[in-house]
Amino acid sequence: MALRTLNDLDFKNKRVLVRVDYNVPIKEGKVSDATRIEASLPTLKKLLSEGSSLILMSHLGRPKGAEDKYRLSPVAKKLSELIGRDVRYEAASGPTAKEQQSFVAVAPKGSITLLENTRFDSREEENDPEFSRALASYADVYVNDAFGAAHRAHASTEGVTHYLPSAAGYLLEKEISTLSKLIKNPESPFKVIIGGAKVSDKIGVIENLLDVADEILIGGAMAYTFFKAQGGKVGKSLVEDDKLDLANDLLKRAKAKNTKILLPSDSMCAQEIAEGVETKVFPSDDIPEGWMGLDIGPDAIKTYQNSLKDAKTILWNGPMGVFEVVPFNTGTNEVAKTVAHLDGFTVVGGGDSVAAINKSGLADKIDHISTGGGASLELLEGKTLPGVAALER
Ligand code: 3PG
Repeated sequence: MALRTLNDLDFKNKRVLVRVDYNVPIKEGKVSDATRIEASLPTLKKLLSEGSSLILMSHLGRPKGAEDKYRLSPVAKKLSELIGRDVRYEAASGPTAKEQQSFVAVAPKGSITLLENTRFDSREEENDPEFSRALASYADVYVNDAFGAAHRAHASTEGVTHYLPSAAGYLLEKEISTLSKLIKNPESPFKVIIGGAKVSDKIGVIENLLDVADEILIGGAMAYTFFKAQGGKVGKSLVEDDKLDLANDLLKRAKAKNTKILLPSDSMCAQEIAEGVETKVFPSDDIPEGWMGLDIGPDAIKTYQNSLKDAKTILWNGPMGVFEVVPFNTGTNEVAKTVAHLDGFTVVGGGDSVAAINKSGLADKIDHISTGGGASLELLEGKTLPGVAALER
């Protein structure tokens, strides 16, 4: 079913309630990574150009009630800097509290008002109809541009669509069209690099991609669950012992579908996770007792680089090692550089891989960097996102 987009509604001089995902990192009272705010600007600018007044809403973190550290004041400040105009914001106990209602009631035409954190009100996550209705009463139309929160059936992402004409913003539309193409109709060879600590976090994605990917390159600690499942010695590397059968089963199913799963031939190992400790490279299936694999090794990096060269479509999600600790960031950084220089269509998702790409200074060389964490994983797993389904009705 087709997603309703900004082309499907009239925004001329309307009050528009816009759900954005401004769940951004805050350090010392300031937004430390504004990627998600920047990504929402095209939609906001388009709506403002139509003479709309914007009432923005977002969650931040997972607060228990109105906790000061989760107020949206730093976000309002950053948005104002980025969009180059005033952003109205007033601290409140919740986005539909009395004081917020009077604040919104006096919003001048063409202004931007940012409501207080939606999660300050527990009815947000309960998807409470009364709360949805109260949010809806602020506006004439609703736009959802919060791709990162589209997997949540909350009042501000799903509930509100029952009370207002609704459409997807540019960011949501772009994320859905790009990621859906990957799982439905990617240009081949399609190569997927999946990393992270746990097979259990990525199992749904790997399973769903077995049908469309030509090769799946595995990195991160999840590789050791695969090695152990095949009888390899992995020392004290992180292993999910209850997922060994599942790992074997995945390898079998991949074979049956003719999808190659590449595991890292070697690993950079240490006896503890700390900067400056002694490191050694061992074959990933022959790691001595007392040692653990903390990053893919030099041979694996070369193999992965070679494998990716001919790819027409590349998806990368998840780090190759304990990338927060030097030198176990090497594999992740090398993959970031490699992916950025590939000719194929490149998509990067997941907080750690996106951070590595940003740090490499090569983000502008990636075709699509997803702003969704859980949302992009669920989409890649083939699940329906409630925030998206609500815009297809
Ligand atoms: C995210 O950062 O992935 C989204 O903003 C969703 O946040 P949540 O996992 O707290 O719902």
